[in-house]
Amino acid sequence: MASHNTQSRKLARRQQIRPLAGSLLALAIGFGVATAHADDALPKLSTKTPLKVGFAQTESNNPWRLAETKSFKDVAAKCGWQVVMTDANGSNSKQVSDIQSMIAQHVDLLVFPPREEKPLAPVVLQAKKAGIPVILVDRNVDQSVAVAGRDYITFIGSDFIDQGHRAADWLIKATGGKAKIIELEGTTGASAANDRKKGFDEVVAKNPGMTIIASQSGDFARDKGRQVMETLLQAHPDVTAVYAHNDEMALGAIAAIKAAGKQPGKDIQIVTIDGTKGGLDAIAAGELGASVQSSPFFGPLACDVAQRYAKGEKIPTWVKVSDRFYDKSNVQQSMQYGY
Ligand code: AHR
Repeated sequence: MASHNTQSRKLARRQQIRPLAGSLLALAIGFGVATAHADDALPKLSTKTPLKVGFAQTESNNPWRLAETKSFKDVAAKCGWQVVMTDANGSNSKQVSDIQSMIAQHVDLLVFPPREEKPLAPVVLQAKKAGIPVILVDRNVDQSVAVAGRDYITFIGSDFIDQGHRAADWLIKATGGKAKIIELEGTTGASAANDRKKGFDEVVAKNPGMTIIASQSGDFARDKGRQVMETLLQAHPDVTAVYAHNDEMALGAIAAIKAAGKQPGKDIQIVTIDGTKGGLDAIAAGELGASVQSSPFFGPLACDVAQRYAKGEKIPTWVKVSDRFYDKSNVQQSMQYGY
């Protein structure tokens, strides 16, 4: 009798759990939480022309972003794309809702740079669930949620860790392996900031003469970079080097260094990433030491990948972009690459 009672209690509990699990799942689907399975095939892409392509930009507050957007506008006609464009004005939630509205419009293909790794990962799964293939460009999403080759076609972009390595290698040479460094980080949570920090910090950690005395986000923006540098200069007047995760923050830091009565390029060595026109001009002026290029020209690459994918070709999970390197030895002949 006792065991019969135990059995019926177990059954009753299971019956309570099932509807609860069912409603949680429904809730998860409603909010677009990760529901895709590893073995679901990637959505197919039509070979029709024109192809309706959604491009969801993160923000348009610097030359790098403008060059990236332009490269998609420029390639559209050649690629047979009718592009729907949005600008999230630096907001993760706006970028998510921009993409959701493109899903609702049934675009044929989605291409976007995810502003931050984690908040933008679930919408990749929502697109897959809606049968829309996705190509990520420039930045990646959290691979524990959405995986290249399983949930989206591919990631087209630079090796940000290697960019950090190259910046550190240059700084070690330029300072004879002895420096007190301020690091200006990009947008917190963006793969570009995470990996550029990882790459640079791991090289510096192996060089005992190099110390990172402060590291703070300047959100990849020139004026934020200037403000952060202004504050950090007061707290660390002994700084001898700056590593900025992009040219815009480096240019902001140069303004702050000058305002503090110091000479950028002499009192303080600066290394950065991007290769914008402003960055190259600052190298030519002797204020910026070096810039590792980070190419923003993804339009033609995305077009090529999409066309090959539509024909059934297997696409690698990372289409790696190789980047140049600029310093005073080659800046004059490299001006043509600035944007
Ligand atoms: O993700 C690439 C970075 O984003 C660029 O270095 C920066 O300028 C942009 O905002």
